[in-house]
Amino acid sequence: MEWCSLIKDMNKIVLSLLLFVSAPVFAQRLPDNVLPEHYKLGITPSFSDDSFSGTEAIQVRVVKPTSTITLNSLELELREVTVTADGKTQPATVKLEPEKEIAVLTVPQSLPAGRAEIHLQFSGKLNKQLRGLYLSQANNGKYAVTQFEATDARRAFPSFDEPAMKATFDITLVVDKGDTAISNTKVASDVPGPGAGKHSIKFATTPKMSTYLVALLVGDFECVSGSADGIPIRVCATPGKAEMGRFALQAAEQQLAWFNRYFGIPYPFGKLDLIALPDFEAGAMENIGAITYRETYLLIDDKTASVEARRDVATVTSHEIAHQWFGDLVTMAWWDNIWLNEGFATWMEYKPVKDWKPEWNVGTDEVQDTAVALNTDSLLSTRAIRAKADTPSQIDEMFDGIAYQKSAAVLRMLENYVGKEAFRNGVRAYLRKHSYGNATAEDFWGAIAQASGKPVDRIMPTFVTQSGVPLVRVQASCKANNTEVKLSQQRYFYDRERFNAGSPELWQVPVCMKAAAGGQATCRLLTKKEDTFSLPGCSDSVYANSGGEGYYRVGYEPGMLRDIAAKAVSELSPEERVALLTDEWAAVRVGLHPISSYMLLAESLKQDRNRAVLETLTERLQYIDEYLVSDGDRPRFQAWVRELLRPAMQDVGWDSRPGESDDRKVVRAKLFYALGETGDDPDVQARARELVERYLRGSDAVEPSLAGAAFKVVATHGDAELQHKMVDKMLAAKTPEQAAYYRSALVRFRNPELLRRVLELSMTPKVRSQDTPRLISGVMENPAGREVAWDFMKANWPAIEEKLGYAVSRVITGISHICDPGLRDDVNRFFSQQRVPSAERKLKLSIESANYCIDLRNQQQPRLAAWLKEHSTAAGE
Ligand code: BES
Ligand code: ZN
Repeated sequence: MEWCSLIKDMNKIVLSLLLFVSAPVFAQRLPDNVLPEHYKLGITPSFSDDSFSGTEAIQVRVVKPTSTITLNSLELELREVTVTADGKTQPATVKLEPEKEIAVLTVPQSLPAGRAEIHLQFSGKLNKQLRGLYLSQANNGKYAVTQFEATDARRAFPSFDEPAMKATFDITLVVDKGDTAISNTKVASDVPGPGAGKHSIKFATTPKMSTYLVALLVGDFECVSGSADGIPIRVCATPGKAEMGRFALQAAEQQLAWFNRYFGIPYPFGKLDLIALPDFEAGAMENIGAITYRETYLLIDDKTASVEARRDVATVTSHEIAHQWFGDLVTMAWWDNIWLNEGFATWMEYKPVKDWKPEWNVGTDEVQDTAVALNTDSLLSTRAIRAKADTPSQIDEMFDGIAYQKSAAVLRMLENYVGKEAFRNGVRAYLRKHSYGNATAEDFWGAIAQASGKPVDRIMPTFVTQSGVPLVRVQASCKANNTEVKLSQQRYFYDRERFNAGSPELWQVPVCMKAAAGGQATCRLLTKKEDTFSLPGCSDSVYANSGGEGYYRVGYEPGMLRDIAAKAVSELSPEERVALLTDEWAAVRVGLHPISSYMLLAESLKQDRNRAVLETLTERLQYIDEYLVSDGDRPRFQAWVRELLRPAMQDVGWDSRPGESDDRKVVRAKLFYALGETGDDPDVQARARELVERYLRGSDAVEPSLAGAAFKVVATHGDAELQHKMVDKMLAAKTPEQAAYYRSALVRFRNPELLRRVLELSMTPKVRSQDTPRLISGVMENPAGREVAWDFMKANWPAIEEKLGYAVSRVITGISHICDPGLRDDVNRFFSQQRVPSAERKLKLSIESANYCIDLRNQQQPRLAAWLKEHSTAAGE
């Protein structure tokens, strides 16, 4: 008895210790007894000393009488803080708690329930960390710009910095005479002063909005203008670059009108600006009415831009404009549901583009995106779409492939299941109901369930609150003019032991099937571990992810796979072929099928000329080359790759033809790259050298997609002289796209000395901190650079942290390519000491990936070798 109660006591102690230790995690949330209604905000940046100062009045509602008000504030100095209520103004004392990112204001006399107004002055530094209100520089000009998502508005002004604490804003920016300012709404007035050489730009009152969507941009901007459905649209950039915004402007015009129709709610924010910033951490940010971008995603030179660059600009713009409704008008109540923002925008981004540029065939991009999510979701350390996130670092980590690609894939599956019309009606109802407010996952699927009358609220939780992905196995047989299909589900893991052991998860999976010989799709809801369905028509093989629209993997019996593969090019859509390749690789990874089965599938796609199929296939071949082919087997593998891809290359031809499709240009570039790299094709390599020489001499005649591929091929075999030239060109690049070409080629050299130079360059002021992570992780992705990059990271970690600040987690991306036990252990050791809070999950996932990669190699390398040997004799090599 004694012991027992002692143990109980100890449990209590341990429990309270745990609570104590994790207390700051919970303390991050603001109390809900004081809620903001309106901010009056005036900010004056000062470029002479890179600082800013502000005045602020916040009208709040006191819910319960209190003498303290807690709001978020970080790296700000607060002065002259008073609180007025009931006609009485009291001075407030300020206690800053930087570790909680809050300021606690205390007044002598308790505030009654009802309205109150906080007044204060504040000041801070324009930082170089690309977060909060930060400093950006270009052509001797200085800019003060913002990036607030997720939790950095608090670095620019004291605020109730939580997405559900929506309020209206009156914003005034005081700027130098030659400068201008952009914010979320239209300019209401622009008057001289205060003081000489300044003017004050006041913006129209915003609708109710979350703090993370506020944008403040000060500096010398130039814009090009247009409009859609009466909404003025501008694309703005630093002087001399605005003309490169014409393409994005056209895209935005089409997209805004498109979304107006889809949502049935006219664009609610009065004007829309798209602004390219010279320094920007993410890709783009959906601030209300003032979307910010890194230059590569907004500015292209219409004469020289590649198809890929155009596609990127169009889809990024579409993504951010979709957010104006999904995210901005209706916002998730807390960051645990960030998928309501990012999953939706990712799911929607291709929709207007499909109508605008049908020739791009972006439908397949969706299936390729799904593959990204499937990959993460096959790891043990994956997470559910909705997952707890409390601290700023945890919140940062939520912006991952699960929030984006998995959520988008699940939404697409759902849309397909309930029908496009019913889905859109549900979306409209959801948006109408929560406009200018916040919503949860349940609000969303409730709306779709109601609009469709289908059990959406039973299906969705199995995909949103449960992590991982189901593998659906299929058996089919013909029974009296019908097809009897037996389906079973189990969670898919790359971890073979876990996979073989089975696991208890159960999904409600809408499975859409069609006979391998083509025909109509039939969908059935698989709700049990195993079930049998009868499909009309007679067939022994069934393709079980019609349109590639499902979020699940499919496992076929070997015989059925052969059947499907044989008819794939003629009977399956490109989306389905992409999904098939992804599924088959997954089957190989867990040992359900031998690797030869993937190689045979590849061969059966020899006639395939589809851009996405070839992309998916050639990327896999590159992976196989890198990780599974031994040096001794490499010549055989390369010969096989050449034989597989050369006919396609011949078909599309070396040179683009007048009037050829955009896809064909990309196909040529992909094949060219795959042959030059993975196939080690000397003809392609010679041709690549020629193209690069022409390009470096300034010829516009080189087709840009092909030029990008040629650069990468040439760099692989390049010497110091070439590298010098490329660095010079990069630093003098006239378009963001060209600079990006050089950056992605520079990391591909093989000579360690040359790679070290790239790494060193990435740390100098010549390279903007926004571009540093991609250079470092680029070298890390290069098999010849992995060790070099890792040694460099270890040796220079403090400097990297210094240069990148919070963005340091982005250099960790390259680590996911490790497939070597020694390196894996070293990385693990290093980061167990050198903690990176915003990359904890990423690190875990990377280490796990490395483990499976090592396991896969041990498993499959000898089998692949045997297959290649057999095969090359047959092919007469
Ligand atoms: N809301 C995000 C930007 C963001 C991401 C802010 C992470 C803070 C943390 C924006 O809508 C977005 O998703 N941007 C993408 C580009 C997009 C087209 C996929 C990005 O920045 O990578
Ligand atoms: Zn987004």
